[in-house]
Amino acid sequence: MATAKASADPAVWSGLQPLPAMSEADFLQWTELLRERTGMHMPKERKSFLATSVGLRMRELGYRDYRSYYEFVTSGLAGNVEWAALVDRLTVHETRFFRDPRSLELVVEQCLPRMAERIRAGGQAHIWSAGGATGEEAFTLAMLADDYFRRCGVPLRYGVTGSDISLHSLATARQALYPKRRYEQIPPELRSRYTEQLPDGKFRIVDSLRWRVCFAQFNILHAASAPPRSMDLIYCQNVLIYFDQPTRRKILDGLVQPLREGGVLILGAGEVIGWEHPLMTRTGSLDVLAFQRTT
Ligand SMILES: C[S@@+](CC[C@H](N)C(=O)[O-])C[C@H]1O[C@@H](n2cnc3c(N)ncnc32)[C@H](O)[C@@H]1O
Repeated sequence: MATAKASADPAVWSGLQPLPAMSEADFLQWTELLRERTGMHMPKERKSFLATSVGLRMRELGYRDYRSYYEFVTSGLAGNVEWAALVDRLTVHETRFFRDPRSLELVVEQCLPRMAERIRAGGQAHIWSAGGATGEEAFTLAMLADDYFRRCGVPLRYGVTGSDISLHSLATARQALYPKRRYEQIPPELRSRYTEQLPDGKFRIVDSLRWRVCFAQFNILHAASAPPRSMDLIYCQNVLIYFDQPTRRKILDGLVQPLREGGVLILGAGEVIGWEHPLMTRTGSLDVLAFQRTT
């Protein structure tokens, strides 16, 4: 493999040189690896995205061709670490606080009242932001739940789990530290209660809310292995876009297992077509894509 790595001479292999072309065989090899490990679907139209993302990373490490970098990524401990960095480059982590108002309305009007009932009856409530990137989605749900339970005088027996495949995103989420421009995304009354301003203009989620939210790496392909019947709400938006329709349906079948009876699964509008499950029924208004577990 040493021969496939470039010399340290920047003139030989520098950022100014064009990336090597990705052959059909390379493309197939990389798309198969991605599909096998993450379930991610990389259609032909995205070949140039794949070639550029893998190529740039490969160049940073000094590999000259896709095959030798592939060999590095697929062997040994260092390869595993590198895989995590690469996956981060191949996924989009675009997110916002309070991103989808219609779905959040459903959370407040339908899911939280049900959770409040459970808590009043001595239980606890759990929410999962699956594929939540850098944590804005998990904290949004935590703010809404905390605010709702306080207003109803319900004990705060709830928790939120934020998961993602990207370790880099999770590290950001755990810091709970966000740039100034994201501040406006949070409604003013919640902003003042759940965030604190830092002298450099950034803001942080207050500890009392941060402690309610835990972040963990989890590949959504393995959704069925999450603790059964543990979730009142699974919020999974803008994640299924990475997968082809059969894989989306397989993931959704898996997400039914961790839902409690009455629990709700909220997706992004239009993210799956024609999915049905014997334990699930469509819920909410037509402009929201949500399913409730019936038994
Ligand atoms: C566009 S972001 C969506 C973030 C948030 N859900 C939202 O709607 O604002 C998609 C996230 O899905 C994550 N993702 C992609 N494949 C995944 C997988 N197999 N398992 C878990 N997360 C995955 C990416 O790392 C990325 O952070």
